[in-house]
Amino acid sequence: MKYFVASAVLTILLVIGLIAYQQGAFSKEKIAYDDEQVGLDDQIIINFSHVVAENTPKGMAAKKFAELVEEKSGGRIMVKVYPDGMLYSDYDELEALLDNEVQMIAPTTSKMTERLPSWQVLDLPFVIETNEQLKAVLTGELSGKLLEELSKLHIKGLTFWSNGFKQISSNQPIIRAEDFKGKQIRTMGSDIIKEQYRKLNAEPIPLNFDDVYYEIQNQLIDAQENTISNIYSKKFYTMENHITLSNHGIMAYAVMMNENFWNSLTEEDQQIIIESLEEMQEWQFELAERINGEFLEKLYKEPNVEIIQLNEQNKKQWMQSVSPLYEYFNQKGNGTYFNLLLQDIDKVEDF
Ligand code: LMR
Repeated sequence: MKYFVASAVLTILLVIGLIAYQQGAFSKEKIAYDDEQVGLDDQIIINFSHVVAENTPKGMAAKKFAELVEEKSGGRIMVKVYPDGMLYSDYDELEALLDNEVQMIAPTTSKMTERLPSWQVLDLPFVIETNEQLKAVLTGELSGKLLEELSKLHIKGLTFWSNGFKQISSNQPIIRAEDFKGKQIRTMGSDIIKEQYRKLNAEPIPLNFDDVYYEIQNQLIDAQENTISNIYSKKFYTMENHITLSNHGIMAYAVMMNENFWNSLTEEDQQIIIESLEEMQEWQFELAERINGEFLEKLYKEPNVEIIQLNEQNKKQWMQSVSPLYEYFNQKGNGTYFNLLLQDIDKVEDF
């Protein structure tokens, strides 16, 4: 019996040994190794998805951020940027962030308003009037409060980037407020933005950014509001060739990270991310101004594009039509946000 047990154990050991040998566990051969693989285990990958072209204020900022983080971490932290909605369209990218399928996104603040209605404060028309004011708002008390609110969604809010001011591109000239009447205009999903166009007797059509080109091409919408950098880089002007320079609203991006991912980083790595964003902040604001200016120059040179400057009288008319929106926003218990916005703007005017 003893002999039988011993030979059974020996046979089992032999079989295990044979399998392990076949799988290379005892192989003396070295595993292929090259410089690229050094420190691979320590490497941190941050996938950053966004929906706009690479040559825009957000596209270029995402690239610059990736370069700074890589440089400061000695290549240990890699930010992989996926532009142009190549991974996700704008509403899906938020879901992907929450599921940690990507770790970073920078949507327009307007796209966060379904989940955080107070963020509509940045969609109120004709409140922020200059780039200096926009900068003050995006770095002031209000922006701090808005970023903190992202924690309700288990998101780490990092900073805001700018894309300047929104204009209108349309298939018919829009000169006066009444020219909006009956027009179907593509907007982002924010209630305040949609209400703004209802007040102008237009019909807002909320659409994902990557559907806009198709909708214009197939004449399913008459107009859309966007920054010059988006109108130019996405070639909307080739089909909607009347552009009204109205500066009626701003476009800002909230740079954010999946909260669990953020918490999994060491303090040192978190610091690298914060420092990179701080270092490029001023550059990003200037970039937004510069790119929108340069693309506008290019549009002026396009023979088939008509650029219409909104004059003071027409602006007043437009402002009058949308003026009930401030009350509408405040009535929803958002007075604090509106006051903070005005306070941040006032700080600029004090100079
Ligand atoms: C839009 O949907 O028009 C913008 O949010 C796109 C962007 O991210 O600039």
